[in-house]
Amino acid sequence: MIRKISLTAFILVLLIMKSCTKDPLVKIGSDSFAATPYTLVHQPWYPPFNLPIDNPLTEEGVMLGRMLFHDPIMSGDSTMSCATCHRQNKGFSDPRKVSQGITGELGNRNAMPLHNLMWNHLFFWDGRAKSIREQVLIPIQAHNEMNLNLFTLVKKLSRSPRYQTQFKKAFNTNEIDPQYIAKGLEQFLVTMISFNAPIDKLWNRTDTLNVIDVSALRGLNLFMRPTQDGGADCFHCHSNIPFFGITSVNGSMSNNGLDEVFTDKGFGSITGRFEDMGKFKIPSLRNVAVTAPYMHDSRFSTLEEVIDFYSDNIKFKSPNLDVNIASHNAQLNLNIQQKADLVEFLKTLTDTSYLNNPAFKSPF
Ligand code: HEC
Ligand code: HEC
Repeated sequence: MIRKISLTAFILVLLIMKSCTKDPLVKIGSDSFAATPYTLVHQPWYPPFNLPIDNPLTEEGVMLGRMLFHDPIMSGDSTMSCATCHRQNKGFSDPRKVSQGITGELGNRNAMPLHNLMWNHLFFWDGRAKSIREQVLIPIQAHNEMNLNLFTLVKKLSRSPRYQTQFKKAFNTNEIDPQYIAKGLEQFLVTMISFNAPIDKLWNRTDTLNVIDVSALRGLNLFMRPTQDGGADCFHCHSNIPFFGITSVNGSMSNNGLDEVFTDKGFGSITGRFEDMGKFKIPSLRNVAVTAPYMHDSRFSTLEEVIDFYSDNIKFKSPNLDVNIASHNAQLNLNIQQKADLVEFLKTLTDTSYLNNPAFKSPF
């Protein structure tokens, strides 16, 4: 009898353990429910970041976000998804100069590449959103983008059995609401980490041979050196390795000397301060070889044109010109070889496994 009880107890414990490994409880506030924690992967030497504590990553939540990202149900006429403008093979950017919304109305800026967003603090070219969660609901409602009010979106999603099931699995809710839509998209965007470019392999090794070629190595050297040392001084702004962008809270907005007169005031149009006029988000240069055209207004079609600009065409009279460029006092005047080397270096930031990662493709 005793043996029998202990055997039953043993089996019970085993069952509980099994259900724990399969469906661990996820706790959000006072609510806990079964979902599978999602394990993020990137390089061990990447800087740490804090995940939003009220939105723990789960397989179910990430899948929900992935569905929402790729589903045209998210737009007014059900023809446009986030992926229409953020294309995976282009580093989740848009090869069109400016984006075009469902009504045919054009936007005024180039769609930004999406990757490693958790290391960012301000979003959009003008930094008008302070978190991913705040950001994601904006394009859905923008009249020149997906043009759908959240009330109607909730109604559309609530009518879909597929989404009723997925919201329940991800957030244990029968009521779809904009907060859950934002949290689902946030979870998916958080998982979009690019960490496998040739440059990552270079950083992972002690020897540099055969990882990137000599021209790219010379380009890296130019990129990382100040002008007084014969460098091209890119690192002051695109400095944070491994992102080659700015990840500090302050200083992610800068004027790199494109114009003397601003048609788009950038960060200044958000803060209203004169000293912010003409400043734009310093973009991460990861995958930059596939994210043409370049700059907030797509004025350059190739990396060669970008390098020509930094070498020969900085507008030193531009108001609020970043001190890291203003201090050069003169154009860099790079020679042909140096320009080519910089371009070769920028190509080593392309992460083809990210551009092809099946986990980010449409689940449909
Ligand atoms: C019509 C094209 C279009 C659609 C659809 C679209 N975006 Fe964008 N996205 C853009 C443009 C353009 C920008 C830059 C806008 C700006 O700076 O004013 C941008 C910027 C972003 C950024 C900021 C990235 C950064 O580094 O700061 C994120 C994140 C983003 N979009 C996510 C999404 C999500 C999620 C969806 C779907 C809900 C979506 N986008 C739908 C065009 C689009
Ligand atoms: C003073 C800060 C600063 C310096 C120095 C700087 N950049 Fe930039 N870079 C920016 C900003 C800001 C932008 C976005 C500007 C805009 O769109 O208005 C940018 C944009 C770019 C882009 C376009 C990316 C895209 O997605 O459109 C490339 C490529 C680039 N920089 C490469 C370089 C290289 C190479 C150097 C060195 C020769 C360099 N940058 C030096 C601030 C800087």
